[in-house]
Amino acid sequence: MNSKKNSLSFPFNREGFSINTLGQISFEQCELNYLAKKYGTPCYLFSENIIRKRIRQFIQSFAQSEIDFELVYAGKAFLVKAMCQILSQEGASLDVSSGGEIYTALSAGFPSEKIFFHGNNKSPKEIEFALKNRIGTLMVDSENELSLINEMAKNMNLKVKVILRINPGVDTHTHQYIQTGQVDSKFGINIDYVPTFMKKIISMENIIFQGLHCHIGSQILNLSSYTLAIQRMVNLMKQIKDLWGLDTPCLDLGGGLGARYTREDQPPAIESWADLIINDVKKEVKKNNLPLPKILLEPGRSIVAEAGITLYTIGNIKEIPGIRKYFLIDGGMIDNPRPILYEAKYEAGLVKNIDDKSPEEVVTIAGKCCESGDILIRDLKLPPASLGDLLVVFTTGAYHYSMSSNYNRLPRPAVVLVNQGKDALMVKREDYPDIIRNDVIPEWLIKK
Ligand SMILES: Cc1ncc(COP(=O)(O)O)c(C=O)c1O
Repeated sequence: MNSKKNSLSFPFNREGFSINTLGQISFEQCELNYLAKKYGTPCYLFSENIIRKRIRQFIQSFAQSEIDFELVYAGKAFLVKAMCQILSQEGASLDVSSGGEIYTALSAGFPSEKIFFHGNNKSPKEIEFALKNRIGTLMVDSENELSLINEMAKNMNLKVKVILRINPGVDTHTHQYIQTGQVDSKFGINIDYVPTFMKKIISMENIIFQGLHCHIGSQILNLSSYTLAIQRMVNLMKQIKDLWGLDTPCLDLGGGLGARYTREDQPPAIESWADLIINDVKKEVKKNNLPLPKILLEPGRSIVAEAGITLYTIGNIKEIPGIRKYFLIDGGMIDNPRPILYEAKYEAGLVKNIDDKSPEEVVTIAGKCCESGDILIRDLKLPPASLGDLLVVFTTGAYHYSMSSNYNRLPRPAVVLVNQGKDALMVKREDYPDIIRNDVIPEWLIKK
């Protein structure tokens, strides 16, 4: 066996990848060229093994501590029926933020009592849908919403568990579009207002106070902001105890742990995040003489981001001499809106040229949408490529399929699960009829 050919170098030296003696690259033992032929491109691939491993890392990290813990996966990162199956098999709960996400979970048979319903502007229809389906916990984002939930619960003769989403006033070192815990944020109830707010909760017969929640942001690579958030949240628990004699059964500290998109990103390990939370919560609770609450975490990105990759075909190459060389791919901002939304950075590799020793060139990977900003990666070093070559973009599992669109009336790609040589669809590729499924022509436009 040729050992040189069996070791993967950058950028393929990542979890899930392997190479055979013929130089063919596989993801979870499924050959990439074969998958591209079978499912077409663009195509999202997800490693079942990485998803399950991450979920277990979270659960096991808390199993050693005396803290009661619930893992509440954030469905906004990636939610399809197959994902719900994996979650329930692994014993995880689910954070949803719309009626559509509730519907997805229930359609997959996900237990309703393990669903936590978020959202800063839940519609009455969504709340009714959640209550009718006995969704376990509603995350309350405002006073108006609390009154609405109480009213609807009363009419349906229900008692509803609620957790209050607090804005703890903590800044994080992440992109401003994915910061959520700073004072000027559209999310959550201002922390200073909560002690007064509690009076209202206590007076409501159809509401059960289950705890407090905060989520300070996403793609967090420096954990220090969690320490401050925990101090503020436990301090709030103390105020609630002193003012109203009420214990806080659950403390939900949201999600946010970062993923590795490029070599520069060095996200802390799941275990380090868990350790910090366990130690800080214990310390703060002890200091304030409070009972240990149950801890909930809502990771999304750190579970699925690195489990996903996207395959594209290079359909065109445009060179502007002395300025730039573009590789034009068959996807773009429709399947990955993160670069155009917040200048997210990625790494990518050419599938066929894994052992090519020609000098690398600096190219720009551009999408096919009618927007100049539809550039997936600028100034990427790649071996020389030709038309029809396959390109892999890494770390595309979180906030990609879930944020995809039909801009330019492009059909969404297939989503495929791979595991130990097995591959199967999780979502079929859309076709043209899917694009016009909901189009209706007003009757007066139809010529008689
Ligand atoms: C309330 C809440 N919880 C959890 C998450 C998941 O965050 P992440 O995917 O960064 O772990 C989000 C995402 O922004 C969120 O808004």
